[in-house]
Amino acid sequence: MINSKIAGLGYYVPDRVVSNDELSQMMDTSNEWIIERTGIEQRRYGQRNKETTTTMGARAAEVAMQRAGVDKSEIDFIIFATLSPDYFFPGCGVLLQRELGMTKSEAPALDVRNQCSGFLYGLSIADQFIRTGQYKNILLVGAEMHSMGLDYTTRGRNVTVIFGDGAGAVVLQPSESPGILRTCLHADGTHAEELAFINPGAHGGYHLGVERFGYPEQEFGGIFLTEKMWTEQDYYPNMNGQLVFKTAVTKFPEVIMEALTKEGLKPSDINMLIPHQANLRISQFVQRQLGLKDEQVWNNIQRYGNTTAASVPIALTEAWEAGKINKGDLVCLAAFGSGFTWGSALIRWQI
Ligand code: UT7
Repeated sequence: MINSKIAGLGYYVPDRVVSNDELSQMMDTSNEWIIERTGIEQRRYGQRNKETTTTMGARAAEVAMQRAGVDKSEIDFIIFATLSPDYFFPGCGVLLQRELGMTKSEAPALDVRNQCSGFLYGLSIADQFIRTGQYKNILLVGAEMHSMGLDYTTRGRNVTVIFGDGAGAVVLQPSESPGILRTCLHADGTHAEELAFINPGAHGGYHLGVERFGYPEQEFGGIFLTEKMWTEQDYYPNMNGQLVFKTAVTKFPEVIMEALTKEGLKPSDINMLIPHQANLRISQFVQRQLGLKDEQVWNNIQRYGNTTAASVPIALTEAWEAGKINKGDLVCLAAFGSGFTWGSALIRWQI
């Protein structure tokens, strides 16, 4: 029986630090409000015209490959998770392959669009491919360039203050002893539009089950970006924060307990929980629900904000670099977000 393990990991965050005070100069918000409701003190923004989701992902991938001791020519599968791709299509997987000079091998590249849980979905896919013996060196990247697509007016403040840019990556390889013990994935599309970036899109004004957008019917053209979207600046992400919060604090503990129970383990067995960095209050709630001590949970949202698909691999790498994750430890990853989609992973750490 082949198992999979994380053989190398890395992250990259851009240099530019954006404080809450800096955002307060653009919109009606304050350092106090942001810290009290989210725990975020600062975030990073990539450099316009110099960095993209792909280039940040590539920097993280280089570190992960170097630490795994694999050359880029040995990567036989690329998985890229993001909600802020450079292009509508093609996805960042092939762009990363080109950016890293890996096109010669013609290794397949898959794009995952599961937002905050994108890394968990990617990890699960990678795990299955390693277990079946099809691939031996899988590069999994989660990266986001949120700063390019946020509304910097008061209208967008509930979303904009939360998000930051960054990237994380891991290399997965076969392992004789169990590494990734289990992944649990879930989705419920009931509230798809409650945390969404809807325009531009191919809906052309027609939303499944949602009347409120009301764009004029257009037979041809202007489907992705209509004049109304443009004039009303209706091309930013929107979020029903309270609904997301309430659902997240239920689903995080549920999916973590699901993985633990199926493995015959309990919360106290976890050496390190890496929750998706959605909101510090959500992570603290989950910690209390599971009865975990401070040293069993890694939080870095204070410094990076919510980096969506990148948040789990950035936090995982940081915790590992800080010596808080060691060989033999039980590491739990968990995420919840847009879709809604959510998931967890239990890993017996191998490096
Ligand atoms: O990765 C998963 C994605 N997202 C999440 O996990 C987010 C989950 N939700 C949250 O983190 C929180 O709901 C938020 C931080 C987004 C918002 O906090 P909240 O305590 O749920 O605030 P609220 O949306 O209920 O709004 C309360 C008030 C409103 O004003 P009124 O109507 O009471 O006058 C908002 O307009 O706070 C106002 N508000 C702000 N004020 C200052 C919303 N955003 C801001 C802001 N600065 N940035």
